[in-house]
Amino acid sequence: MAAGWWHFLLVVVASGLGNPWEISTLHCRLYDFCECGFQPDVKGLECDFARNVYGQHLAQELVVNAAKRFVETESPKKPLVLSFHGWSGTGKTFVSSLLIKHLYKDGTRSPYVHHFSPILHFTHAQKVEEYKEDLKQWIQGNLTACGRSIFVFEEMDKMHPGIINVIAPFLGPSWVVYGSNYRKAIFIFISNAGGDVINQVALDFWRERKDREEIQLSDLGAAISDAVMATAEHGFWQSQILNQSLVDVIVPFLPLRPNHVRQCIRNELELQGIQYKDDLARSVLESLVYFPEDERVFSSTGCKTVASRVNYFL
Ligand SMILES: Nc1ncnc2c1ncn2[C@@H]1O[C@H](COP(=O)(O)OP(=O)(O)OP(=O)(O)O)[C@@H](O)[C@H]1O
Ligand SMILES: [Mg+2]
Repeated sequence: MAAGWWHFLLVVVASGLGNPWEISTLHCRLYDFCECGFQPDVKGLECDFARNVYGQHLAQELVVNAAKRFVETESPKKPLVLSFHGWSGTGKTFVSSLLIKHLYKDGTRSPYVHHFSPILHFTHAQKVEEYKEDLKQWIQGNLTACGRSIFVFEEMDKMHPGIINVIAPFLGPSWVVYGSNYRKAIFIFISNAGGDVINQVALDFWRERKDREEIQLSDLGAAISDAVMATAEHGFWQSQILNQSLVDVIVPFLPLRPNHVRQCIRNELELQGIQYKDDLARSVLESLVYFPEDERVFSSTGCKTVASRVNYFL
């Protein structure tokens, strides 16, 4: 009965509006469906990950499942907090962009997506107190404007410890101010910390001739936390964030094998509208640095330099 009445009202009001955009805006307002351009497409995310993220079965599974659970929960108990770890060029920034692309209508261009990098935003050690206050105000202000905001902190291992502590209260279950629900926000922390232990486990699996897809989070999670806590330059160092389990999911990114880099090369050529050439791929692969040096198992820079190398060898 109530739903029928709303529908009637919607049709009556909408008929005076004229175009479909206004109708959908009204629909958003009435039902709170499209908060701040937040339009999660979990199926799309799942497909994009399966097709375009190479060699990262853990990241794929953990990020998709966490995002799915979170967006399907009407009133989350706490914000979603993800921490990405791994060597350079393994896809951490790429995966965060894919996630954002499938959560917001305007993707990474959405005004509700905020990126922080210590090199750009927190450059001077003597200004730490100022940064702390600014960051707190910024997060609070943006969460008041839109509870569905997303905050990405890059290069956490270069973040002055202490800065991140000011946002710890936003990451837990209790942060509700002026009636705004801050528990719908998403925080992503990215760093290379823990990369060494991830690489070692991946190498052990390779040496034991075990499938890398058999690597589980339980093989890595605790070791990554320990590595982060032992890194004095990491933004989580001595913070309560890891201790208090404010991070929901630790996401390890494995080092990439030459066959994964080959897929990146293929992808880059496709993006440029050029047909895949095996000799070009071989030249790019040969020009990369691998580790361990003698066995050349994993690419030291993952897929990071693929685009520029492809252009060089073209
Ligand atoms: N696992 C992957 N699958 C597909 N493409 C990848 C993957 N890893 C990296 N790439 C490609 O390489 C580029 C560089 O990767 P990205 O910037 O995500 O690395 P990163 O892990 O963030 O490295 P850094 O720690 O140096 O910031 C991406 O834009 C993407 O095109
Ligand atoms: Mg990155």
